Amino acid sequence: MTNFRVGVIGAGSIAQSHLTAYSQNPEVELIAVADMNLERAQTVAEQFGAARAYADPHELLADPEIDGVSICTWNNSHASWAVAAIEAGKHVLVEKPLARTLAEAEEIQRVAAQSDRVVQVGFVRRHSPNCQVLKSFIDAEELGEIYYAKASCLRRVGNPGGWFADKELSGGGPLLDIGIHVLDLCWYLMGSPGVVSVSGNTYDKLGSRGNVTTMPRYKAADYDPDKNTVEDLANAVIRFENGASLLLDCSFSLHATKDSIDVSVYGEKGGAELEPALQIATEMHDSVVNIEPQIASRSFEFGVSFANEIQNFVDASRGRAESIAPAWHGVEIVRILEAIYESARIGREVTLS
Ligand SMILES: NC(=O)c1ccc[n+]([C@@H]2O[C@H](COP(=O)([O-])OP(=O)(O)OC[C@H]3O[C@@H](n4cnc5c(N)ncnc54)[C@H](O)[C@@H]3O)[C@@H](O)[C@H]2O)c1
Repeated sequence: MTNFRVGVIGAGSIAQSHLTAYSQNPEVELIAVADMNLERAQTVAEQFGAARAYADPHELLADPEIDGVSICTWNNSHASWAVAAIEAGKHVLVEKPLARTLAEAEEIQRVAAQSDRVVQVGFVRRHSPNCQVLKSFIDAEELGEIYYAKASCLRRVGNPGGWFADKELSGGGPLLDIGIHVLDLCWYLMGSPGVVSVSGNTYDKLGSRGNVTTMPRYKAADYDPDKNTVEDLANAVIRFENGASLLLDCSFSLHATKDSIDVSVYGEKGGAELEPALQIATEMHDSVVNIEPQIASRSFEFGVSFANEIQNFVDASRGRAESIAPAWHGVEIVRILEAIYESARIGREVTLS
C-alpha cells in the first residue's frame, strides 16, 4: 500500500507534536509544511524532512500528491483552512477548537457533509491511554448511567499572552484554550449527550498578571503582557437532555494556591477520576472499592496521545476505522462554549434545545 501523504498548515508549537507523530508513523510520508512565516515553515520542513515549504497554504492545498492535512494555525483561520482543504479533496485534522464561533464550526460541518473526506478535531486527550481505558469500562456499563461530571482546569499564573490573549484571533481565553479539553473529556465519556441549557459566568479581574515574574509560565512567542482581551476565569453549569449535568471551571489567572486539573464522571454503579490520574470508584459486596488500572501511566500521556490521534486520523482516512473525534463533536463543543459566553454576557441561563 502507498504511504498516506500529509501536509501541515501552521508550523508553530503544536505543529511539532503533529510532525513528530507523522514522522514516527511508518505509513505516513510528510510532503510539505506551510506557515505565513516562511522562515518558520522552511526550518520545520528541514527539521522533519518535508520536501516543500510554503508561505501560502493555498499552494500546499493545490498539491495533488497530498492526501491529508493537519491545521495547526491560530483559531481565527481554522474554518477557512478547513473548508479550503476539504474543497481541495484533502482529509483534515483540525486542531481544537474546531473554530472560534458556532457559525464557523457549522460551515466546516456543512462543507464536510457534502464531501466524503474525513474531518477530525484535535481532541488529543481522548486518545490518551487513560481515557481509552476508562471509556472501555464505561462502554461495558461498569459505571452505569453517568449523571454528573466535573471538569476543571485552573491556572494560577498562566495567561500565555500573544494570540491566545487576543479575542479576535483566539475567539476566547481559558475557555477555548484549556477548558475545552476538560469539558470535551467529560462530554465524550458521558456519551456525547445533547445539551439543553447552559448557565455561565466569565470574569476579567486579574488580567494577564504580567507583573508576576516569580512563577514560570508558558508564553506565546509574541508574548506581550499589555495585550489581553480575554477572560481570566470562566465557569458553567451545563444540563443535558438525559438529565445529566456538568460543572466546568477554568482559568488563566486566579488566586488559587496551585494549578490544578480535575476530570471526573459519576454514574449509578461507579465513578471515575480521569485527571489528574485514572482511578475508578465503585461498590462491591457492601464495600467501597477503588480500582487503579495498571497501565503505563494513569495520567494524560502527551506524545503517545498525539501518536494515537494521528493513527486514528490515518485509519479513518483509509476507511479502516471511524474517527473518535468527528467534526460534529467539534461543533457541539463550540455550541456549548459559545452558549457559556452568551449566558455570561446576558447574566442568565441560555436554552439550547
Ligand atoms: N491539542 C492541544 O493540546 C493544543 C495545544 C496547544 C495549541 N493547540 C491549538 O493549536 C493551534 C496552534 O497553536 P500553537 O500553540 O501552535 O500556536 P503558535 O502561535 O505557536 O503557532 C501557530 C502558527 O500558525 C501560523 N499561522 C497563524 N495563522 C496562519 C494563517 N492564517 N496562515 C498560515 N499560517 C498561520 C503562525 O505563523 C504560527 O507559526 C491553536 O488552534 C491551538 O488552540 C492545541
